[in-house]
Amino acid sequence: MNIGILGLGTVGGGVVNVLNNNKDEIFARTGEKINITHGAVKSISEPRICADGDINITEDAFEIVNNTDIDVVLELIGGTTFAKDLVVAAINNGKHVITANKALIATHGNELLTLAKQKNVHLLFEAAVAGGIPILKSLEQGLSANKIELVAGIINGTGNFILTEMRDKGRDFADVLKEAQALGYAEADPTFDVEGIDAAHKLAILASIAYGCELQMNRVSTEGISEISGEDVSFATELNYSIKHLGIAKKVNGELQMRVHPTLIPKTQLLANVNGVMNAVLVKGNAVGPTLYYGAGAGAEATASAVIADLVDIIKGTISHDVFGWKKLVEIPSCNPSDVESVFYLRLLATDKPGVLADITATLAKHNISVESVIQKQIDQQNNAHIAIITNRVKTANLHAATVEIQTHEFIQETVKIIHVENLD
Ligand code: HSE
Repeated sequence: MNIGILGLGTVGGGVVNVLNNNKDEIFARTGEKINITHGAVKSISEPRICADGDINITEDAFEIVNNTDIDVVLELIGGTTFAKDLVVAAINNGKHVITANKALIATHGNELLTLAKQKNVHLLFEAAVAGGIPILKSLEQGLSANKIELVAGIINGTGNFILTEMRDKGRDFADVLKEAQALGYAEADPTFDVEGIDAAHKLAILASIAYGCELQMNRVSTEGISEISGEDVSFATELNYSIKHLGIAKKVNGELQMRVHPTLIPKTQLLANVNGVMNAVLVKGNAVGPTLYYGAGAGAEATASAVIADLVDIIKGTISHDVFGWKKLVEIPSCNPSDVESVFYLRLLATDKPGVLADITATLAKHNISVESVIQKQIDQQNNAHIAIITNRVKTANLHAATVEIQTHEFIQETVKIIHVENLD
């Protein structure tokens, strides 16, 4: 089988290395010799992490997708324009395509998967979600007997690294982000990581595989971690929670919720203890109960592991799905984000004077919200106090109406911070 690889950077270089290092095991599993015959790069003279002596290297990626000797194209360059043109050309030329490109699949997957079906080739993308964790194969194959009740994951390593460093070392958000970029975790545009766009791409893919619906990136409500402060991190710790950036997909009363946002989860839960750049995805099936998948969400060889597993599936013909993982797609109405019910954490900066807490809780009560716990601390030079409140379970719309009203009190000194609280047990 001849493989053409588009991009010999971190992931592409990792694929070449893993195929070389593990060639005996992969041959034993497939009975087929896998040859990376061609590779496309931006610049032939750039340094690479892999040996490329046996690969015909070109700077013209279209040479590869148009080459009749190539059976499978690996798209590992990223982006949604040039990469899309290459994938379309490869599929039109009758080649199977494997990609790690979550942005491409989340935004153009419906069109690309439909084209692949028409051309009778496979378009596979295990590496697009949670790097090396075989979460799509687990949902499609291992959990195929289940109605999926919940998918909740830490699916952006950069965000998890930032939140972990802020909590464990009291570091500053901007400072940790710079380190994540230097370590190669972050996307080319790091706002994709910190504003939740990367996690939203991955969640849209997870939801379509879990629930058998089309990819619906435009229905993911998305909030990043850039507004999480040191105060939020230390209040969360004091209240026995950890702040994690979660992607959550679940069906409630026949409606699909897809949301990406920072979330306080009880410290004792497994997801709360997934730290640093690691990813983890919790899947609850109605037959199997809760299952948890943990591993490296990024990195050369971890991502290569998922890319090569797709290649092995193509060689062995072990692909279980048609398009989107399901033979027959379903349509699920969206849940209006303001109808989502959740517990919430509120943080307020207020003048420290008698009656402030009473006014805040009275406003909450007016909107049918009760207080489960409250902490007040850090009275500063200006006689201000930080107040953290955990509410009961309420509709998002009620919570927002209450905070808009609280915000109008003259003793409130800055915008009220709102963070979801989830008990995933
Ligand atoms: N920027 C991504 C992350 C890389 O931090 O998780 C893997 O998709």
